[in-house]
Amino acid sequence: MLKSVVLAALLGACSVLGAAECSRDKKCPKATPCCSQYGECGIGAFCLGGCDPTASYSLDACAPAPVCESKELDFKSLKRVADIGDYLGDPTDYDWVASGEPALHDGNVLLTMPKGSVGTVMSSTTYLWYGNVKARMKSSRGRGVVTAFILFSDVKDEIDYEWIGVDLETAQTNYYFQGITNYTNSENITVENSFSDFHDYEFRWTPDKIEWLVDGKVGRSVEREGTWNATAQLWEFPQTPARVQLSLWPGGAEGNPEGTVNWAGGTIDWNAEDIKNVGYFYVEVESVSIECYDGKDGIGTNDNKSYWYDGEAGTNNTIVDGDRDTVLASMQATGLNMDKGKKKTDNKNDNKDDNKEEPKTVPGGTTGSTGNDHSDEGESSGSGAGTGGDTGGTQPTDNYDWSNFDQGLSNDNGDQSSTDGGNAGTRAQASLLAIVVAGCALYWRQS
Ligand SMILES: *[C@@H]1O[C@H](CO)[C@@H](O)[C@H](O)[C@H]1NC(C)=O
Ligand SMILES: *[C@@H]1O[C@H](CO)[C@@H](O)[C@H](O)[C@H]1NC(C)=O
Ligand SMILES: *[C@@H]1O[C@H](CO)[C@@H](O)[C@H](O)[C@H]1NC(C)=O
Ligand SMILES: *[C@@H]1O[C@H](CO)[C@@H](O)[C@H](O)[C@H]1NC(C)=O
Ligand SMILES: *[C@@H]1O[C@H](CO)[C@@H](O)[C@H](O)[C@H]1NC(C)=O
Repeated sequence: MLKSVVLAALLGACSVLGAAECSRDKKCPKATPCCSQYGECGIGAFCLGGCDPTASYSLDACAPAPVCESKELDFKSLKRVADIGDYLGDPTDYDWVASGEPALHDGNVLLTMPKGSVGTVMSSTTYLWYGNVKARMKSSRGRGVVTAFILFSDVKDEIDYEWIGVDLETAQTNYYFQGITNYTNSENITVENSFSDFHDYEFRWTPDKIEWLVDGKVGRSVEREGTWNATAQLWEFPQTPARVQLSLWPGGAEGNPEGTVNWAGGTIDWNAEDIKNVGYFYVEVESVSIECYDGKDGIGTNDNKSYWYDGEAGTNNTIVDGDRDTVLASMQATGLNMDKGKKKTDNKNDNKDDNKEEPKTVPGGTTGSTGNDHSDEGESSGSGAGTGGDTGGTQPTDNYDWSNFDQGLSNDNGDQSSTDGGNAGTRAQASLLAIVVAGCALYWRQS
């Protein structure tokens, strides 16, 4: 209720707040130079993880990206998970940046998606340029509910695991080069109940090959050799430093593109069992390990401090592994002026004209999708088989002790604000902001 009121109020402001949309062919203006992962221009967090240098005002508008660091991560607390609104780019402070509402449960992290929200996304603060990444996790469930564990680079090279909540016996795998949609690259790996059982999902990514392993067994592999595009004279193979992203998003949300909704198994049911029982859909993640690739000759290295791009092509020979700083002084800063807002001169600077637009500082998406949103899904393959409505998806037996679960969660949330230093309020705000941004984007599309 409150949300919808605020939403309505802010929607009215969309035309004023309007962040420009950006792409390779339509770069951001100088005032809001950073093109986010979601294709909108802004400053601050827009210039950190996900900032696409090839769609930004200039290649150096995005802050340099922290290089790969091998690590074993668990979730005994949320201390190492920053809210996206608070993170300025120092990976020694945090391992993850989240928008939405992550929560603790039994020493694991839950990515939650309360009714009507766009879910939660958690992104690693360091990048990897090839390497092995493994997550031990359980997917979410339900029509239109999408779980993702992906490697996603700033120029939109992408390697995926995705689970749609109507099929808990399948992990969908895919890869994209620079965001170019090619769903013929999709392949399925069979799993045993991805919702009720933990499984190890792993990527092994080298300059020559990608392997997807489930519980230690190779379920799929793709060789670079098969991806040559003779016209473009390049390998259509993921080859640029990527963040690890874990997310839960409403593919089947009303207003999402039809292709996305159909792919996700139909329209989301906001009164589903999980919503009734615990108040949200959820993904549970126990641990994530990141093992950096040890590249030579300038490809796939992690010898220095940060990665940045020195060419518009966005291919692996345009990556620099150098010593530029990665930290912004404030949410007013960009890669072009990383010190902006450094001193506490905020009051002095308060000579801002009330009518002046405030640039956006925290990015968010329209569909909630982290990687490719599958909006073109099925366009080339024709038939809309198995779309919409009840497809009789697997309903696993629920083996949770729900009373404990509920209890545990509220306790954890209580702890969070005190001991963890996390801030549930900010998280809620961030997720509301994401919804508002989503609303605005839809509004812009329609108008
Ligand atoms: C993968 O499984 C989904 C159902 O979960 C199905 O719709 C899709 O066609 C399958 N993809 C492939 C490539 O077999
Ligand atoms: C999709 O990728 C496959 C395998 O790399 C390739 O053979 C095919 O031509 C691609 N299709 C399009 C439309 O790009
Ligand atoms: C190869 O690259 C060209 C030029 O970028 C593009 O138009 C074409 O679709 C690509 N072909 C495939 C099969 O991906
Ligand atoms: C990465 O760059 C090197 C050197 O330019 C090239 O030989 C290799 O094929 C590239 N790999 C990919 C996946 O593009
Ligand atoms: C780190 O990068 C800088 C250039 O950005 C270079 O001068 C320096 O030698 C590099 N250090 C190492 C250890 O590679």
